[in-house]
Amino acid sequence: MASILPSGFFSHLTTGSLLTTAFGAVSCYASIRCFYHLYLHPASKFPGPRLAAISNVWYAYHWITGKYAMAVEKAFEEYGDVVRVAPNEVAFLTPQAASDIYGAHTKHLEHFTKTDFVEMGKDDQGIAWERDPVKHRNTSKRLSPAFSMKSIKAKEPTMHKYIDLFVKMMKKDGGGEAGVELRIWTDWVAMDISAELAYSREMHQLDEMKSGPFLKAIWGVNFFVTIHQICKKFPLFTPIQFLFVPPSAVISEFQARKLATKELETRIERQGKTEHLDHFETLVPAGAPKPTKEEKKELEVLAAQLLIAGYEPISSQFLCTIMFSLQEPETYKRLVNEIRETFTRYEDITPEALTPLRYLHASLMEALRLTVIGGTGMPRVSPGATVDGNYISKGVYVQYGHFAFTRSTQYFHEPRSYRPERWLPEDHLYWKSAFKSDARESFFPFSQGPRGCPGMALAWHETRLFIAKVLWSFDVEMLPDQNIVFERDFNIHAMWEKPKFWVRFHPVVRDE
Ligand code: HEM
Repeated sequence: MASILPSGFFSHLTTGSLLTTAFGAVSCYASIRCFYHLYLHPASKFPGPRLAAISNVWYAYHWITGKYAMAVEKAFEEYGDVVRVAPNEVAFLTPQAASDIYGAHTKHLEHFTKTDFVEMGKDDQGIAWERDPVKHRNTSKRLSPAFSMKSIKAKEPTMHKYIDLFVKMMKKDGGGEAGVELRIWTDWVAMDISAELAYSREMHQLDEMKSGPFLKAIWGVNFFVTIHQICKKFPLFTPIQFLFVPPSAVISEFQARKLATKELETRIERQGKTEHLDHFETLVPAGAPKPTKEEKKELEVLAAQLLIAGYEPISSQFLCTIMFSLQEPETYKRLVNEIRETFTRYEDITPEALTPLRYLHASLMEALRLTVIGGTGMPRVSPGATVDGNYISKGVYVQYGHFAFTRSTQYFHEPRSYRPERWLPEDHLYWKSAFKSDARESFFPFSQGPRGCPGMALAWHETRLFIAKVLWSFDVEMLPDQNIVFERDFNIHAMWEKPKFWVRFHPVVRDE
């Protein structure tokens, strides 16, 4: 094919002039891009860090450091309640914005759909990652019987089984000089419960005192998931993203997948013959035809999502309620007194009997407030709608500053301190008027709308039961020299990374 350039054209260009031309072209492209993002983009009317307006570097940097939620909080402090945090993403702080974004729906089809933020590939997206509202509604409907009160009640023996085992093991091993590292123990007990509740899978991490491949794998890839999420904004880096997976995590991931497939097969084999009710009973009910190969793929994703969703926030609640209470000894004393004054016998401690315990409820709410699960911002795509009075064009991402909201003096008195008293009713002995104006009604730890947490009631059952049974049985002692500060010691990637926490469990001696 004849060239349109004169012959010998390239031979006259020096390396220097080629580089200058390339540099010029790149600069020209970058200037036009910056100009577009700063002045013409639909999000350009919102204030925010300049770097965040013109590139995703601000986003990438803060996610990599593990302090993204804190960086968004600082941006609100500097720029106000609506902040542009990426070229195509706007964050909101007011409770009205949260309700506009997550609450808006027509017949359970959300208006603000999920972004590709957590999506991990092309496979079926289960429930939590599904972006198509119709597909999501169908899955959600199929699963909903698993979270009815009747179903949760039938699953209580599974919760007791593992919590009782935890208490038994702490009686044996928890009081030694060296103490026990509570983060790993709460991981074991919460994941064992979650796996058995999800699809009757027995993990034996608690009784064997050993993390299984699944637990190792999800923490092993926690940082990688963040890198994967960043690469969606920098596709050129996608090929090197796997360098961020530690080799040990690759092995665990391989073992975990193999085991998960085997366990799913076992569960399908036991269709209609499980020892107790689990969430899968609604997905593979007795008498239904065996799932096809395609359906099995979907079930595999659902099993993993139910297992993780039912484990991680529960484990955090177990750990952090004890950790924060011990760091504020007066709150620990009040919590323990309430539990021990209510029950004379361990066997009487049940989720139902625990519902009226106000200080227990308040302590769990306060742990939820400080550990805020929605710290990722839970981004959504605007359909072209108004958020807190601001019109957001179709396709622009929006997120809610859950973390910043919980830390804001605009909404909470002493927002960085652990103060269960803020959740008490006014007629309670420990109620304090200082917290009267706290934005209690606007705090949704389980989110709201069609994508809100279906496991909320189950979570309350589990967390009340664990805290009550443990604190009824033991005086918990925090080992010295541990001053954990949330903002410094917790990091957010796909899941919050929590610090280690050492305690001793001293069995309470009671007169028979
Ligand atoms: C303290 C405990 C818990 C907290 C704070 C919590 C919080 C949340 C939040 C904030 C969401 C929304 C996430 C988003 O929109 O991106 C969510 C979703 C979800 N949670 Fe929970 N959760 C808890 C326990 C549980 C439990 C025990 C289960 C039981 C399996 C569960 C199952 C789910 C599922 C399946 C979803 C996805 C819902 C959907 O996309 O429709 N959660 N949770």
